[in-house]
Amino acid sequence: MRGIIYDGTETKLVDGLTLTDPGPRDVIVEIAAAGLCQSDLSYMSGIYPVPHPGVCGHEGAGVVVEVGSAVANVKPGDHVVISTLASCGMCGPCGEGRPTACRRTLGRSRKPFTTADGEEIHMFAATSAFAERTIVGDIQCVKIPKDVPLTSAALIGCGVVTGVGAVLNRARVQRGETAVVFGVGGVGLNVIQALRVAGSPTIIAVDTVPEKEELARQFGATHFINGLDEDVVGQVGAICPHHPKADRGWFNAGGVDWAFDCVAHPDVTWNALECLDWNGTVVVVGVASQTAEFRGLYSRLTQVERNLMGCRYGSISPHTDIPKIVEMYRRGELMLDELVSVSHPVEDWEKAKADLESGTVARGVITFGGT
Ligand SMILES: NC(=O)c1ccc[n+]([C@@H]2O[C@H](COP(=O)([O-])OP(=O)(O)OC[C@H]3O[C@@H](n4cnc5c(N)ncnc54)[C@H](O)[C@@H]3O)[C@@H](O)[C@H]2O)c1
Ligand SMILES: [Zn+2]
Ligand SMILES: [Zn+2]
Repeated sequence: MRGIIYDGTETKLVDGLTLTDPGPRDVIVEIAAAGLCQSDLSYMSGIYPVPHPGVCGHEGAGVVVEVGSAVANVKPGDHVVISTLASCGMCGPCGEGRPTACRRTLGRSRKPFTTADGEEIHMFAATSAFAERTIVGDIQCVKIPKDVPLTSAALIGCGVVTGVGAVLNRARVQRGETAVVFGVGGVGLNVIQALRVAGSPTIIAVDTVPEKEELARQFGATHFINGLDEDVVGQVGAICPHHPKADRGWFNAGGVDWAFDCVAHPDVTWNALECLDWNGTVVVVGVASQTAEFRGLYSRLTQVERNLMGCRYGSISPHTDIPKIVEMYRRGELMLDELVSVSHPVEDWEKAKADLESGTVARGVITFGGT
């Protein structure tokens, strides 16, 4: 079978891959579609400290083709979204419904793929969705109704849960609270639409690609600022002033209640902090390299009680939150189909990569012939 492998130097589509037989709690999924997330490009450029060679892709959906002897939650023929959280299901955080804090979800690897030359290949993000078939744990498979298009469902696996969960689970944004969102990509658009669902009256989108304005507004942004403009913070202050007579107050407070950083660049994180009103919070969602640093002024935090928090995978619990997201989509509250800007067959995967690098698409999706 075919799959896209990053070998530590380059990424290429190969044929002749084989997959190990499933263990008792394993599920083999035939991938129908997989989204290309910025985190895939980070892996392919070597900035993530995870092993290679590996089969790429971590945002996928497909059809179950084989299950291990102890699997009870899915059966062959079921449509599933794959969660990247290979959580243990038994530790404290798992028991409390916080599998993003399960220690077993980081730093473990397996090599279930073998090339035609006999080389064993790692998984990426415990998912490896850029292959015709992959093998995942039963806990990673969330069954979805068959009327949800698999090209749209694939995006739930990362971009949707990350963005929606950042707003509804991690931040728990309340009706009436205002927000700015830096980075209007697959993740940022989901932050924006979740803010709309949460009842934010002012949702300010910021992106360095001006063409993103239309998409941002389609998903619920009330304002758009070009991230290349000189004074992004001042523009946010003009929209949400500190006081009717002054945009900024003590310690430069004034602005929004929430700032979602879906970029992870030091300048963006600094601007995000500067855009906050008293008691506002920056939620860092973007993932930078392991050594990237940001700087800020202590005084911006204490006197006006600003906060800074990180967020992994939308702080979701997949078996609770993915069905909720599917229901919100079916009720017309969340847009999924509109997130798919373009689909490419796997042999054209480099076109999807170029689309993502240009910053012009909501999401590009790679499709596989089998299903
Ligand atoms: N925390 C998590 O669990 C998690 C999960 C998925 C993705 N991510 C990370 O989230 C980030 C976004 O991912 P994505 O797939 O949406 O990426 P994307 O490429 O689809 O979108 C990023 C957007 O940011 C814009 N941008 C770039 N520099 C900017 C700047 N200085 N100011 C404003 N906008 C800027 C780009 O034009 C683009 O529209 C990445 O860092 C990714 O690795 C984190
Ligand atoms: Zn656990
Ligand atoms: Zn991702």
